[in-house]
This record gives sequence, structure tokens and C-alpha cells, in this order.
Amino acid sequence: MKVLALNSSPRAEGQSKTEMILKPFVEGMRQAGAQVEVVNLRQKTIRNCAGCFTCWTKTPGVCIHKDDMTRELYPKWLAADIAVYASPLYHYTMTASMKAFIERTLPVLEPFFEQRDGKTWHPLRHPAPKAVVMSVAGFPEMKVFDQLSAYVQFLFKQGLLAEIYRPGAESLAHLASSSVREKILAALYRAGEEIIQTQKIRPETLSQITQPIGIESQFAKLGNLMWRTCIAESVTPKEMVARGIAPRPDSIETFMLILPLGFQAAKAGNLAATLQFDFSGEIAGSCHFVIAKGQMKAVAGSAAKPDLTIKTPFALWADIMTGKADGQKTFMEQKYQAAGDFSLLMKFGELFEKG
Ligand SMILES: Cc1cc2nc3c(=O)[nH]c(=O)nc-3n(C[C@H](O)[C@H](O)[C@H](O)COP(=O)(O)O)c2cc1C
Repeated sequence: MKVLALNSSPRAEGQSKTEMILKPFVEGMRQAGAQVEVVNLRQKTIRNCAGCFTCWTKTPGVCIHKDDMTRELYPKWLAADIAVYASPLYHYTMTASMKAFIERTLPVLEPFFEQRDGKTWHPLRHPAPKAVVMSVAGFPEMKVFDQLSAYVQFLFKQGLLAEIYRPGAESLAHLASSSVREKILAALYRAGEEIIQTQKIRPETLSQITQPIGIESQFAKLGNLMWRTCIAESVTPKEMVARGIAPRPDSIETFMLILPLGFQAAKAGNLAATLQFDFSGEIAGSCHFVIAKGQMKAVAGSAAKPDLTIKTPFALWADIMTGKADGQKTFMEQKYQAAGDFSLLMKFGELFEKG
């Protein structure tokens, strides 16, 4: 079985969340015996359809443009049994490059009309590949895919084998625990195997792909901190990740949300400890974190018996988290104090991922 997988994200490899979900799906299809070619549309020149109907009249089945679509992609698409259309959700549907690709498949249609049951359509000149549609979205709810789903169901009709949608994709990549991420990527791999073996994807597999990642109820709060930090530091989200800058907390409540997101369960091993923060300055108060069995739980207020207590101005700790102040240097300068098990303080860099 031949598969042509198209990724229309403008982002380069390693940054594209469409690629993040497409990759395991492609590996699963290959494992099941399919011959899969992946094409990044951002690397191709696909001109807009000229609307001239030359492909329907003077050169039936052949487009007037001489670009990557005519020379390379259209013949590959025609030869494929399945085409995977993977696009980030842009303005509630697909990217312009994916839409341009779809419009440029016009030569596959005959110009003639057929009508039945109140519907008009063009018959196919050649059999078209079956379709699998994949998309990722920034927003956390499945409803954001409704418009794209309605469109592709109408467009591909019985030729649509499956739709795979992953909301909250940026959060999945950067905020979800690695175990949740692994489960979702493993389900995508299984979906790839299933589509080749049975031409469909089991509902259980799809629900594993769309499973909540645990930050949905705090999405707006965390997202807003992230954007405020980007604006304040004058960095794009990509630069923020590259420089290891964490979203800057603006209250003890948001600090309690952010710190556990960077917790490195694998590095913690079987560490059991309670870590307390006593904040002073404009934002004053206490909170603590209980680390046990590879998990970290945030609790408001003081702990009965903390293993380590950090007393710090809130603004200074926020500076340390966002890379504006050096944790070790400011400790030496006694800008904050620590009491209790100092080995825990030494482990900080290991226990919490930068950024
Ligand atoms: C121009 C533009 C439009 C977007 N529109 C939406 C949208 O309508 N709904 C949504 O949830 N996310 C939207 N997003 C966010 C992307 O879907 C999200 O960042 C996605 O993970 C990007 O995938 P990529 O990394 O493969 O490019 C938009 C992003 C851009 C740049």
C-alpha cells in the first residue's frame, strides 16, 4: 500500500506539532507494511489554481502551471492509495498551503455535472486516493475542529477513512507530563498500524489520542503567563523554549501551577521530600510541594515538617525562574535564604527542567 503523507505546517522539523503527531502515525503505517512518503509542503512551490479550466478543456487532466505540484506532487498523489492531509488548525480549518494543494487536485475531476438526491458533483477522471485527515490545535477543546471536520467530511465523502485531531498540542509538547505524552504518541503509532491493517482506526485508539493532558482547566491562566513572559522578555515562544525561560508567575497560586510542570520525575527517582517557600515582598505568603513516588503535589500554606524551606522575595524567585537572576549567585549574595536539607537545594537544577 502506498501512502503520501503531507505536512502543511510552516514550522521546521522538531518544532512542528503536526510533525509530532504525524511521525508516530507514519512509523505505525510503515510497521504495518505500507510504503510511506512524507512531504513537507513548506519546502514545495504550489501556485494557486488559476481558475482557467485548461485542465478540463485544452489539456484534459493536466494543469497549466509548471511547479512542484504539477511535476512531482500531483503524480505522487494520484499513485497513492492513501493521502494523509496533516495540517495545523489555522483559523479553524487548514493552512493556506494545504488548501492550495487540495484546489490544485482539480484536474482529477471531469468538468461534467451529475445530480442525485438534491446534490450536484463532478465525476472523477481517475480514482483519487482515500483520505486521512490529521490536525493539531493550540486551544484545548475538541470543538475547535468542528469546522475542519465538517469540511473534510463533505469534501472526501466515503473516501475519508479517518480524522485524527489533537487539541492543546502546544501544551502537550511543552507542559504535559512525559508519561501522558508517551501514551498519546503510542496511540498514534497504533492508529497508523490500524489504518493500514483495517482501513479504519478503533474508537478506543482515537480516545487515547484525544485524552486530557491534565492542564485543561488552567489552560488560559498558564497560556496568559506564557504570552506575558514572551512580551516582557521580547522573545518568541520558540526562543523562550530555546533559552529555558519559564512562564513568570504573578501570584503564589500561579507559582504553584508552574513549578510542578518542570518537575523531572525520572531524575527524582524515589526521593521523598517536602519543599517549602516563604515569600516576602509585594507577593507574600507560603506554599509547599510534596515530592513522593515520582510525583510532585502543590499545597497552599506552610507544611508541618518541611525538609527544606526557602525564604525569598517573590520577585527574586520569579527572576530566577525566568533566567534573569542566577540561583547560586543570588544565594551566595544572601538575597534569599534556605534552611534544612541543603542537598535538596543543590539538586534543584536537576529536579526542575530549565524553562
Ligand atoms: C495563523 C495561525 C492561526 C491559528 N489558528 C488557530 C485556531 O483557529 N484554533 C486553534 O486552536 N489554534 C490556532 N492556531 C495555533 C496552531 O494550531 C497551533 O500552534 C499548532 O500547534 C501549530 O502546529 P505546527 O507546530 O505543526 O505548526 C493558529 C496558529 C497560527 C499561526
